[in-house]
Amino acid sequence: MKNKIFIGFCLLLLCNILFAQEPKIQILDSSQKVSYRGLSVVTDNIVWVSGSNGTVGRSIDGGKNWGWMKVKGYEKRDFRDIAAFDKNTAIVLAVAEPGLILKTKDGGKNWYKVFEDTTKGVFIDAMDFTGNKGYAIGDPLDQHLYLLKTTDFGEHWRKIKPENTDPIFAANEAFFASSGSNIYAGKKSLKNKLLFVSGGSATRLFSMPSLSAMPLELQLKMGGSSGANSIAISPNEKYGMIVGGDYAADTMATANSNIIIFRKGYIEMITPETAPHGYRSCVTYINENTLLTCGTSGIDISKDGGKNWTLISPLSFHVCATAKKGNTVYLAGSTGKIAKLIL
Ligand SMILES: *[C@@H]1O[C@H](CO)[C@@H](O)[C@H](O)[C@H]1NC(C)=O
Ligand SMILES: *[C@@H]1O[C@H](CO)[C@@H](O)[C@H](O)[C@H]1NC(C)=O
Repeated sequence: MKNKIFIGFCLLLLCNILFAQEPKIQILDSSQKVSYRGLSVVTDNIVWVSGSNGTVGRSIDGGKNWGWMKVKGYEKRDFRDIAAFDKNTAIVLAVAEPGLILKTKDGGKNWYKVFEDTTKGVFIDAMDFTGNKGYAIGDPLDQHLYLLKTTDFGEHWRKIKPENTDPIFAANEAFFASSGSNIYAGKKSLKNKLLFVSGGSATRLFSMPSLSAMPLELQLKMGGSSGANSIAISPNEKYGMIVGGDYAADTMATANSNIIIFRKGYIEMITPETAPHGYRSCVTYINENTLLTCGTSGIDISKDGGKNWTLISPLSFHVCATAKKGNTVYLAGSTGKIAKLIL
């Protein structure tokens, strides 16, 4: 009897080893040879991407078929971030001058301008929404905050003037526009809070409305190419993860990530035990404990809240995102690559 149980146990173990599903990356499309850094996943089936050469793509069947658009009049713009609300409505932002935000309500057939800023030096990097409220962060102008707000799903935008008008950023501290994910608008226990992460000559986590700043250990050398690229917050808003590193040394696996723990009244920051295996431009929570991160030197997964990371693919991707309603994770990157994570 004991033996039978033992053999049974061994078979079970063997089966587990043989058939345990390793996470896989399934390429869905690479037809448009542009670089994607904007990705918004509404449901498991509805996904929008945006990128260079004025390109926006949409799938409503889980990535099997894609509709492609080059936004008329903006074929040279780089749409580094996209926020989609459903299969018809989405907003894209273009980096560099002039600062530009466009909106569609008919699935991308027609786009109209909802914000433009011709101020010299304007560079809008990323945005995030919570319900009808949205925020877009831009590189500091003269070391001052550049933050836009909408309260009507991006129909109108206005600049936020902080109470403290002192320059709060270091010279050459800015925001990376690498994945549209360095800003997070609180949704549950972080409601009414806005978090964003900087890089360059300084790398910090900022929290609004107090506009407090916390230094991050995401920089080995002082330079324009390193710092925080992405912030993700867990579904119940108890934890967070910041990733980055140095895009000019993208296999360097040190100083590229921080775990955030939200305590009552303060934030605790810890470094992972096993860090992601290189510079990472984006991170997303799949559930409270499972996260995915991607960058030009590969993709890592963590199943313990970001404490230990395992490299699952050497493929280069700029952005990854989990469905807002659902749990499918999509990835997008250079040379038109779009993929799905198979868990
Ligand atoms: C994108 O635009 C650049 C410059 O405007 C051009 O050289 C390149 O061929 C374009 N690529 C695609 C895939 O349209
Ligand atoms: C994961 O991280 C923890 C620290 O939180 C450590 O004790 C543990 O050994 C790590 N596990 C693996 C498999 O590396």
